[in-house]
Amino acid sequence: MDKIIIQGGRRLEGEIENSGAKNAALPVIAASLLTKGWNSFANIPNLVDIRTIKTLLGSFGVVFAQEGSTLRVNAGDIVSCLAAYDLVRTMRASVLVLGPLVARMGEARVSLPGGCAIGARPVNLHIRALQDMGAEVELQDGYVVAKARRLKGAEIYFDMVTVTGTENIMMAATLAEGTTILKNAAREPEVVNLADILIGMGARIAGVGTDVVRIDGVPSLHPVEGVVIADRIEAGTFMIAAGIVGGDVRIRGCHPGHHDALIAKLRDAGLKIETGEDFVRAVGRGRPRSVDVKTLAYPGFPTDLQAQFMSLMTVAGGLSVITETIFENRFMHVSELMRMGADIVVQGGSAIVKGTPALQGAPVMATDLRASASLILAGLAAEGITELSRVYHLDRGYERIEEKFARLGAAIERVKA
Ligand code: EPZ
Repeated sequence: MDKIIIQGGRRLEGEIENSGAKNAALPVIAASLLTKGWNSFANIPNLVDIRTIKTLLGSFGVVFAQEGSTLRVNAGDIVSCLAAYDLVRTMRASVLVLGPLVARMGEARVSLPGGCAIGARPVNLHIRALQDMGAEVELQDGYVVAKARRLKGAEIYFDMVTVTGTENIMMAATLAEGTTILKNAAREPEVVNLADILIGMGARIAGVGTDVVRIDGVPSLHPVEGVVIADRIEAGTFMIAAGIVGGDVRIRGCHPGHHDALIAKLRDAGLKIETGEDFVRAVGRGRPRSVDVKTLAYPGFPTDLQAQFMSLMTVAGGLSVITETIFENRFMHVSELMRMGADIVVQGGSAIVKGTPALQGAPVMATDLRASASLILAGLAAEGITELSRVYHLDRGYERIEEKFARLGAAIERVKA
């Protein structure tokens, strides 16, 4: 397994190009199941998870053609509706094929994803919503088995805000008979991106981006040419990097309007943040100030940047309380950061971070995608060498992150183990 080696202390200067968003590309590629013919999606990032969903859809009979970062997808001939455990267990977002398959084919057999490092991550809300739309859904041998001659529009209230739950049911509702209303719907930009592409396919959707979304079912959808939005979590990771080790970093090709919560917190922490039409410039000067953060559904502070922000707070000049409200076990990075000298106490869903003047480089281990990024950030700031193992977690959601940091002046390299 590859490792990433970092010699800390190098200021970051320059600009990077924001890649396409993993969490937008995955539902968009799944949406192609609703159509026959060639869809074309631009700005698809080159990530392990994208290769996984292509393998999964390939097992259904979907065919692909790739031209640079444009992916062409043809789901005209579906020969299987089985999403097997050996694929689904490597990527929870595989559950996104459930809604489109039931809507298009009238059936689906999708393995339950099982838990992951950050939490149990059930899909009960996805299942309940499909049942509300008239699907027969059973759990058999670890699989969700769903059947529906044709889904019927329904009024659905999500007990919790669920991003992929909203996406799954929105896709299913596009071909249902009648109108579906989603209440307490997720408002993430990735949900809006999916809706825009579904509308391009001929779907009738209103209210996306608010917590009430209305979908009027249509008999069929047609292929579309669409563009995937930039990855706000990648961009946020680089903004935080400018703060943790100092520097002047411009992230090009991003959507500044997707970063309100993070930018507010980074400014409170003392960074200078400048925004333009399609870029954000983050300037870190001196030791950051301690800031409290609470993760919330969009437009609140994103849970996917909680670990990265915690790294910043480990070298800040005071006490910071970081509260994780979305997942029950998203502090796996804490013990690794403490091996680097961070002073953190976890109490229930909060981590109390006492800033220390400097971290010490150490061999550390990635446990999940965003924890890996937090350890890279800590390594960039630490004195000495940090060696990050299990970087396969990182490759799921970041496109060549070490190359991007090296271009900004970091002493960072990937070594084949
Ligand atoms: C999406 O996961 C993202 N993944 C996650 O990003 C992100 O952390 C999360 O939303 C929250 O923003 C993709 O979009 C592919 P949820 P998702 O359903 O949809 C509970 C990353 O690092 N819940 O919004 O799986 C759930 O347990 C990943 O890129 C139920 O209880 O998250 C969690 O506590 C990590 N039952 C909360 O809701 C359900 O049926 C929010 O989960 C569904 C969810």
